[in-house]
Amino acid sequence: MNGTPADHAAFALQGNGFDTLHLQRRATPAPVGAQVLVRMRAASLNYRDLKILEGRYAMPTIRPLVPLSDGAGEIVAVGDGVDAWKPGDRVLPIYMQGWYDGPFGRQPHWRGLGGDVDGTAREYALFDQQDLLAIPDTWSFAEAATLACAAVTAWHALVPVGGVKAGDTVLTLGSGGVSVFALQIATLNGARVIATSSDDAKLARLKALGAAEGVNYRATPDWDRAVRDLTGRRGVDMVVEVGGGDTFDRSIRATRDGGQVLRVGDLSGGVDPSRITVERGVTVTPIVVGSRAMTAEAMHALAAAGTRPVIDRAFPFHDLPAALRHLEAGRHFGKIVIEF
Ligand SMILES: NC(=O)c1ccc[n+]([C@@H]2O[C@H](COP(=O)([O-])OP(=O)(O)OC[C@H]3O[C@@H](n4cnc5c(N)ncnc54)[C@H](OP(=O)(O)O)[C@@H]3O)[C@@H](O)[C@H]2O)c1
Repeated sequence: MNGTPADHAAFALQGNGFDTLHLQRRATPAPVGAQVLVRMRAASLNYRDLKILEGRYAMPTIRPLVPLSDGAGEIVAVGDGVDAWKPGDRVLPIYMQGWYDGPFGRQPHWRGLGGDVDGTAREYALFDQQDLLAIPDTWSFAEAATLACAAVTAWHALVPVGGVKAGDTVLTLGSGGVSVFALQIATLNGARVIATSSDDAKLARLKALGAAEGVNYRATPDWDRAVRDLTGRRGVDMVVEVGGGDTFDRSIRATRDGGQVLRVGDLSGGVDPSRITVERGVTVTPIVVGSRAMTAEAMHALAAAGTRPVIDRAFPFHDLPAALRHLEAGRHFGKIVIEF
């Protein structure tokens, strides 16, 4: 492999907690068969990465683990069975390796990058050729690295499940990765967005990105009532529900009769299933990231509309622990990126 180093740097999470996350050197593998070797150029962080680090993620995860699900890079070598790619191609790995199309579970042998299989916090990584997508020429590696989890989840919630269309009103919660992409995707589909945040300065930024209205959920604890007032008491058509325990009931109350709560996250803790009551014909649908097809659709829709991912801050690769601390502090807006 011309120019490829014999070994490279990779983060390894040995247990639970920041003090078990270490930078190591590993042998650089050679691709065989349908494998492709990617030199990672950027990665991005998701709330899931913190949960895995702290040992409070619901799904099984391996140790040692190379963390992070999202990244982008360039192909440096291909196995002799690869027909889709060549060295120099710019790609991103899909989050759910092995889920290509159709509904969740159709391809049952999927694996989550940076969870039950090694992730993107390493300088070189092998992928099956089917688990990669070409990234838009107009996007930087850092921009492309924001997509695989947050944007795809927002797309899955709003488009194939929510069926969002012009004239709908969509509620987004907070200004993290999923919610900022949800705002952008809802807006480019012609929907009116009401956004919440704990911070007035962030609400101003959400409005600059296209939100029609903003509600400070800290200053207005009964924000569901404020949201209903903004819809003439009717309620929103759909909510991208990332809050969980503290927000779930209010999200249902903010939704119109027959509307949809697209259940994505649990930032404020889990929802007790006994409390999930489907009131007034409101549908609650759990969302699981998305397939390769959804990843391609989300990426092409954003690129075609000229919508750029919102990057809060970029950290150098070796500063991954500091980047995770920044995510933990919750002061970010949009996506936190790692550059190699
Ligand atoms: N189901 C899936 O497949 C899937 C996929 C992706 C993510 N998720 C989940 O979705 C959630 C969001 O992930 P993320 O990566 O976007 O997180 P993130 O970037 O860390 O989002 C953090 C932001 O969320 C807002 N927030 C925190 N607590 C809140 C609350 N009680 N009410 C309203 N907003 C609150 C805050 O925004 P302000 O500072 O503006 O208040 C905070 O800055 C997580 O629970 C994650 O595990 C699930």
